[in-house]
Amino acid sequence: MEVIKSIYEMQAFSRGMRSAGETTGFVPTMGYLHEGHMSLAREAKADNAKSVLSIFVNPAQFGPSEDFAAYPRDMAGDLEKCERAFVDVVFVPDAREMYPDGFSTHVDVAGVTDVMEGIRRPGHFRGVATVVLKLFNIVMPNRAYFGQKDYQQTVVIRRMARDLNLDAEVVVMPTVREPDGLAMSSRNAYLSPPERAAAPVICGALLEAKRLYDSGERDAGVLARRAREVMGKEPMVELEYAEVSDAETLAPLREVTAGAVLAVAARIGKTRLIDNILL
Ligand code: PAJ
Repeated sequence: MEVIKSIYEMQAFSRGMRSAGETTGFVPTMGYLHEGHMSLAREAKADNAKSVLSIFVNPAQFGPSEDFAAYPRDMAGDLEKCERAFVDVVFVPDAREMYPDGFSTHVDVAGVTDVMEGIRRPGHFRGVATVVLKLFNIVMPNRAYFGQKDYQQTVVIRRMARDLNLDAEVVVMPTVREPDGLAMSSRNAYLSPPERAAAPVICGALLEAKRLYDSGERDAGVLARRAREVMGKEPMVELEYAEVSDAETLAPLREVTAGAVLAVAARIGKTRLIDNILL
């Protein structure tokens, strides 16, 4: 396994892969790796000649009052996990090299960012799309792997890839969960033991709404209300939103047709968690 820090060296590697006709599978991450990340890394390795995983806590996607400084970091542990997943290259760029003085170009994906996380975290997806495009230009992947856990992010990246003719296939992999259903997330590390014990209600609410859907309920309002009710029973969990949207456009739905997603965001103490389920 190779650890590359400079953009120049990473691009030299990527150019070599492209000119040799060998495929690269790419997994962008912010580190503090867990099984969700590693499922993407294993898929990238299985589908391509080489796998590249980047670790970069991207300041541009955090709001001024968000957790950039506190975001969990564990480079030694992350590198060990990458070794075990047979990652070929770990790319760990430097923030000053990624965002030099005078940096002034951004990617705004309109429409699909006007709902859910886009409203609650202004500028977040601009930061995500910009860094992902930069990383694509540096790693030049044939395929890039994202988790369904961040559903809106997959829609934003897919839209950007299509609109800007990026030469990479965007692959979305299922959400990896803890045995009690909680979606794995680096931010779960913030939870105190009682908060951690309460957290599975988020997934429970999604499953309960899905059961209602599977039994024939098609009214999006009823489904979202059911999820809200289930979460309401857990006083430690404060729901921010529960929304049923078109799975591709993220337009809010009144009636659930095929291809809908129920997405939620909730706060447990100071920790903000998101999750979703496809209907
Ligand atoms: P991060 O939160 O580190 O997640 C990196 C990738 O892992 C994302 O595609 C995310 O959806 C996926 N992932 C996280 N938890 C998962 C889970 N439980 N199951 C499956 N996949 C999971 O998302 C980001 O970083 C950043 O926004 C990034 C794309 C790297 C841009 O900075």
